[in-house]
Formats: sequence, structure tokens, C-alpha cells
Amino acid sequence: MDIKSPQNLMELTDVFRFVEKVLKLEPGHIRDLSFYKKQFETTPYFSIYVEKDNEVLGALLAVPQGNDGLLVGEVAVSEKARGKGIGSLLLTEIEKRAKKYKKKNVLLGSLETAEEFYLKHQYKPKLFIQLQGTNRLKELKNFAKDNSYEKDIIWENEGDGFSKIIIETSTIDKKLQDKAKTLSGAHTQYLFSKKLQT
Ligand SMILES: CC(C)(COP(=O)(O)OP(=O)(O)OC[C@H]1O[C@@H](n2cnc3c(N)ncnc32)[C@H](O)[C@@H]1OP(=O)(O)O)[C@@H](O)C(=O)NCCC(=O)NCCS
Repeated sequence: MDIKSPQNLMELTDVFRFVEKVLKLEPGHIRDLSFYKKQFETTPYFSIYVEKDNEVLGALLAVPQGNDGLLVGEVAVSEKARGKGIGSLLLTEIEKRAKKYKKKNVLLGSLETAEEFYLKHQYKPKLFIQLQGTNRLKELKNFAKDNSYEKDIIWENEGDGFSKIIIETSTIDKKLQDKAKTLSGAHTQYLFSKKLQT
């Protein structure tokens, strides 16, 4: 199976349409086609896909983040092609390219159904919790404290109508996530990161 990058915007559009369909992306998705088209101008090598008999079977779209990070925005393998190593092939290839372009960290937000996949690839989980309302950082910190994660808060932010924290959990703590989901106006997601050996 061949991994390649789209050669032009038409091919990139086909790959994005594939991703959109598999992941059932909503029309207002933050990283839409125009976002990836813009990225493609400077870093076309971070959009990759696997094709067989002219049919896209899997794709991964990534973009640089900061100086030395790479954000994997979307990963999708068509339903019929899952469990055959295509997801792993895409992830391994993007890590190789990340290293080539001097990126030290790979970051991503996972769907709940894909968490095991990233753990298998030695990605480290962190729980992202967002609450509606700008003045709720204290509540979030108390939540972390009540669950013995006070020292594991690695990022916090307030603004734009939301309060947010990221807690380094080292494993996937579903109980913690379920509790966080009961906070009013909460959105939670496991984020994953991997430091690349240089
Ligand atoms: C998650 C996904 C990208 C994995 O791709 P894939 O080609 O099926 O994965 P692979 O065949 O390379 O699997 C690698 C390993 O991870 C495991 N794995 C893959 N997906 C898994 C899942 N959803 N849950 C648990 N384990 C999973 C496989 O069993 C395999 O384990 P093994 O090495 O012990 O055999 C693919 O299932 C997918 O597109 N899912 C739907 C969309 C999605 O969740 N995308 C991720 C968004 S963050």
C-alpha cells in the first residue's frame, strides 16, 4: 500500500471529502477545507493518504503548531479497511515526516472510539475540560483538587466565554472524565501527545 501526499488542490479536496464523510464532520468544523487548503500552500507533506485501485482508504491531515509541534487534525480509515494496519501506517509516516521537518511533539485530540489506538502507539493522554462561562477556572481547579489531580494541571485558560483546563492523567481515567461531564456546560476530550526521539 502506497502512502502519498495530494499533488494539487483537487486531490487535497478529494482527500478532505473522504475524511469529512468518514468522520461525519459538521459543516461548522473548525478545520474545514479552506483551512487545509491554506496549510497545503506551505506544508503539503503533512497531508497524507493511502489509496488502492484509485480509492482512498485512509487519510491523515496535520498542521504545524508553534515552532516544534505538529497537530494531527484528522485521522480517518474507511470502515471496510479498518483493522488492517492503515491507521498505524499513516501515524508512523506522519511521525517520520514530523522528525524530518524538526518537529519534536505530535499532538491530537481523540474521538472516544480511537483512544486505545493512540495508547497502542505510545501516545500520552491528558484530559481537556471546558466549561461554558468565563469565570469558572476556580471551579475547575477545585474539581481537579477534589479528584487528587491538583498538581497535574498543565494548562489553563479563561476567555471567549469559556473556562478550560488540561489535566495530565498518565492513563485514561474514565471515571474522572465521567465526573467532569456532569459539571454544567461541560465538554471533555482526551488529548494525546508524543515526544519524538530526535
Ligand atoms: C482509529 C482508526 C484511525 C484506526 O485505524 P485502523 O487502520 O483501523 O488501525 P490499525 O489497523 O492500524 O490498528 C492498530 C492497532 O490499534 C487497534 N485499534 C485500532 N482502532 C482501534 C479502536 N478504535 N479501538 C481499539 N483499538 C483500536 C487495533 O486493534 C490494532 O491493534 P494491534 O496492533 O494489537 O492489532 C480507524 O479505526 C478510524 O478511522 N476510526 C474511525 C474514525 C476515528 O476514530 N478517527 C480517529 C479520530 S481521532
